[in-house]
Amino acid sequence: MEKRTVFIIDDEEIIRKTLSIHLTKGNYSVIQSAGGSGIFEELKNNNYELVISDIRMPEVNGLQILEYVKKNYANIPVLILTGLMDFNITIEAMKMGAFDFLIKPITKEHLLNTVQNALHNRDLLIQNKKLEKENLEYRTILENKVEERTEQLNKKTVELENAYETLQKMNFQMVKVLAEAIEAKDKYTRGHCDRMRFICLKIGELLGISGGERTDLEFAAILHDLGKIGIADSILNKIDTLNENEFDMIKEHSLIGEKIISEISTFKNVSMIIKHHHENYDGSGYPGGLKGSQIPLLSRIIAVADVFDALTSKRPYRESLSIESAISEIKNISGTKLDPSIVQLLINNKEYTKLKPNQPQKHSDTEEKNKLLKKSLCLHAYGNSL
Ligand SMILES: [Fe+2]
Repeated sequence: MEKRTVFIIDDEEIIRKTLSIHLTKGNYSVIQSAGGSGIFEELKNNNYELVISDIRMPEVNGLQILEYVKKNYANIPVLILTGLMDFNITIEAMKMGAFDFLIKPITKEHLLNTVQNALHNRDLLIQNKKLEKENLEYRTILENKVEERTEQLNKKTVELENAYETLQKMNFQMVKVLAEAIEAKDKYTRGHCDRMRFICLKIGELLGISGGERTDLEFAAILHDLGKIGIADSILNKIDTLNENEFDMIKEHSLIGEKIISEISTFKNVSMIIKHHHENYDGSGYPGGLKGSQIPLLSRIIAVADVFDALTSKRPYRESLSIESAISEIKNISGTKLDPSIVQLLINNKEYTKLKPNQPQKHSDTEEKNKLLKKSLCLHAYGNSL
């Protein structure tokens, strides 16, 4: 094991020699100096791990040496050689950072014990500083990694948000194309999809529907009758009364619509809303015969908006109804065909007047009007928003 070096500074040669002998026997390597004006240069140019310095010396005293060492080599402990008469100076030295003091005459055992303690303390301090440094480095690395990872995650989040926005735009474009296909198929419902979107979103807003659910409602409102694509034109656009078999075929449109939309993975919820948009509140609708809250809420909204738009729109066999007349008719089927709470929201919401539905015509023959109105509601119940 390599010897540890002690630097002894004392102007009395006999003291230096005595200490040197003890330390050498204790397996230490020793450097000696009588002090003087060149001591700082010596302290600078030698390798040592401990300083033992006398206090009272000409030119440069022990306190000056202590101050220099503590200032320039903080890890090197300094032991002060002192006499019984130097009590106050010794206290001062301890305050300035001396590790310990050795009172002359010094015994070999006390010297070696004190030196050993001082060096052990120095080792602990160095080790502690090393651990602190490693800890700081580790923390810095960790913080940098966290910062780097956070930056990556933020970047990824922005990319995902952009991708989601693009997907939503594509979805909306696809929905618009499909809506045009529906309206091209059913020439009597031109503008119906846009109005449905407007009314349903308004009711949805009043119900606090937001985020993804709002998007589902928007898409389902536009696409609710997509299944009509699969119904023969001759039945869909028939002006005369439909027979039972033809009604059954029209009723298929909610399931056809659901099947088409369910093929698009992001539209699963929309497909379920479409499937049930002809369920009646009292359970008399189709395809599931669902009742009340069993019917998806968004399907119940679509049902109310669908009837309102059908009644306020012109049809080949009747003129459009005024908003007041349509609301009056809707009240008649509230609680049976339609969810009364949603009907109430429609009634309380004046936004629908902005839709500018077809101008209502005055019916001179009340009986004829009632007859045509009945057909209109009846057709809706079967799934034809006429
Ligand atoms: Fe429908």
